[in-house]
Amino acid sequence: MSRRIAFLLMMVCSAGILFAEQHQWVVSSKPGAAIQPTMYGIFFEDINYGADGGLYAELVQNRSFEAPLHITPQGERICGGLQGWTAFGYVTIADEHPAFARNPHYVTLHAGSHPDKQTGLENHGYFGMGLKKGVNALFSVYARTQGGASSQIRVELVDSHNRVMATEHIAVKGNNWTKYTADLAVPYTDSKGFLRIFLEGPASVDLDHVSLFPANAWKGMLRADLVNDLRELHPGVFRFPGGCIVEGTDLATRYQWKNSVGRVEDRPMNENRWNTTFVHRLSPSYYQSYGLGFYELFLLSEEIGAAPLPVVSVGLACQYQNREADSARVYVAVNDLQPYIDDALDLIEFANGGTDTQWGKLRADMGHPEPFHLQMIGVGNEQWGSLYPSRLERFVKAIRAKYPDIKIVGSSGPEPDDKGGKQFSYGWEQMRRLGVDLVDEHYYKDPEWFIGAVNRYDTYSRKGPKVFAGEFACHTTERDVLKPENKNNFEAALYEAALMTGLERNADVVHMATYAPLFAHVEGWQWRPDLIWFDNLSSVRTPNWYVQQLYATHRGTNVLALKNEDGNAVTGQDGLCASAVYDKTGNSYIVKVVNVSNEPQDITLTFKGIKTLGEGTVTLLHHDDLTAFNEISNQHIVVPQSSSVKTVGNRLSVTVPAKTFAVYTLPLKK
Ligand code: AHR
Repeated sequence: MSRRIAFLLMMVCSAGILFAEQHQWVVSSKPGAAIQPTMYGIFFEDINYGADGGLYAELVQNRSFEAPLHITPQGERICGGLQGWTAFGYVTIADEHPAFARNPHYVTLHAGSHPDKQTGLENHGYFGMGLKKGVNALFSVYARTQGGASSQIRVELVDSHNRVMATEHIAVKGNNWTKYTADLAVPYTDSKGFLRIFLEGPASVDLDHVSLFPANAWKGMLRADLVNDLRELHPGVFRFPGGCIVEGTDLATRYQWKNSVGRVEDRPMNENRWNTTFVHRLSPSYYQSYGLGFYELFLLSEEIGAAPLPVVSVGLACQYQNREADSARVYVAVNDLQPYIDDALDLIEFANGGTDTQWGKLRADMGHPEPFHLQMIGVGNEQWGSLYPSRLERFVKAIRAKYPDIKIVGSSGPEPDDKGGKQFSYGWEQMRRLGVDLVDEHYYKDPEWFIGAVNRYDTYSRKGPKVFAGEFACHTTERDVLKPENKNNFEAALYEAALMTGLERNADVVHMATYAPLFAHVEGWQWRPDLIWFDNLSSVRTPNWYVQQLYATHRGTNVLALKNEDGNAVTGQDGLCASAVYDKTGNSYIVKVVNVSNEPQDITLTFKGIKTLGEGTVTLLHHDDLTAFNEISNQHIVVPQSSSVKTVGNRLSVTVPAKTFAVYTLPLKK
């Protein structure tokens, strides 16, 4: 019998034995530890086409003609090409007198030798272009002709059956790069449309930065539906941009935030860390245009009301990818770290500095003179071993000296325990020694691990750094991120909800928690499960999304002690987990109960020290089938349902259905 089946049987049996029992729980009304506003948040990384091809609403792939791009370990860029484009007629790539120094390549549409020999280009975007009826497509291009001649291009939106949906003609004149625009009406919806450009005029035309955005994009740049999916999570913290892409497969391809700010046209493209790493899902066309760069990520944090948490490289390329290596190619020597430390300091200046500072001025020039009120910074992602603290130490000293109020987030490595080595304990020990403010823990584990970890933080030291559960997700297929069967199913969501009662109960030591990864394109994923799935037109909120949202919207302000009849916290006994909070803004009491057993359970909650509670509400997330999940075409399979609940005096008696996450909100009677 597998460990997993034995575990499930145990859950079923234990629930069966206690089915008849009436649970009597007592909730103290005395507000305990404060729950941080940052407690529940989101972690964004450009994996699974999360940015380019996803949240970043640009429909054109390789708009700057820099791909294919290869960056050598020494940082040499070998780039320029027609990846993502289909050229017809006489089309060449050039880089003489470019429009943009850091993206120097452009395309030339050469005038043909015969009127019936057409020259032009097609771009099918990322898995096609999602075109929605009534949402215009905004086209723009930088163009010039040779020798000041006049010419013309024709721009077409074409549907997946090769029918022309919209056409615009653009006259191009002069040999100076000029931006031209066209507004194309979309007459009907097609999820796999494409863009076609013809040379129509007599003279050859150079084109660069060919762009197409839906007119409803948030601030003209991000997919409105996906921004809404983030906004409605009500996140308290927003960690970005990774994840492994912070580190890079090698140092030359690490995320360099300075390349991601300034004019979008001149942000040098980067290789995406996830493009050819996983042979099961090769994504050779996956690059980072940096159109969604640090400025946009800060703006987005502001929009969704979350505290920004940018992460910078600590001078170590991905340690997973470089286990054997020990060279300057992947590890910056401690004494050579200054440029990396400067990147961290300059980032703080970019976010918070006055408009009279170098980086604060750039922020202002980009349109945001007000500071972004950055309060914390992550240094390093999933780092481990002695390579990490020796480097982090330099950052800590420099950041503390210049910005003593900025909190520093360190890492305890990729594993949440010492199985297979002592790296986790060592990591924590070093984070304490360095005095970081928070330690980022990651867990991608199975349901058994999740239920076992409900009391994980009960014994954590209350002194020293706080915990940031920075990447977590329950994996129901033995943590195989590569398998299509590894779904965002209800079982995974239920066990995440269970674990999170333990985070909440320990909110004095756990200050932040973010699920990972956030996004996945249904045709472009490398890793699963993921919180939000999308195609070219729509997205779907997973059961896991609803769990995160329920926690964030029922966060409360203070922890309340909740004890069972034995005077213990409810941490998985009989398949039940629970936590309670007080919300001083709504003057209400919120109790979260997760029943992972196969039987309904009767519970009476008594609120000690309170006379009368008003009528409350319960929100249940439930499905009879643990394998159920939501799909884009069927979004409402696992969704929360709310109804009212009656209290009697200071008591609430309820039956929590089997396999259910329940949130009770009880106002104090006025
Ligand atoms: O979330 C996916 C990856 O998991 C992250 O990039 C990395 O930090 C972790 O290994």
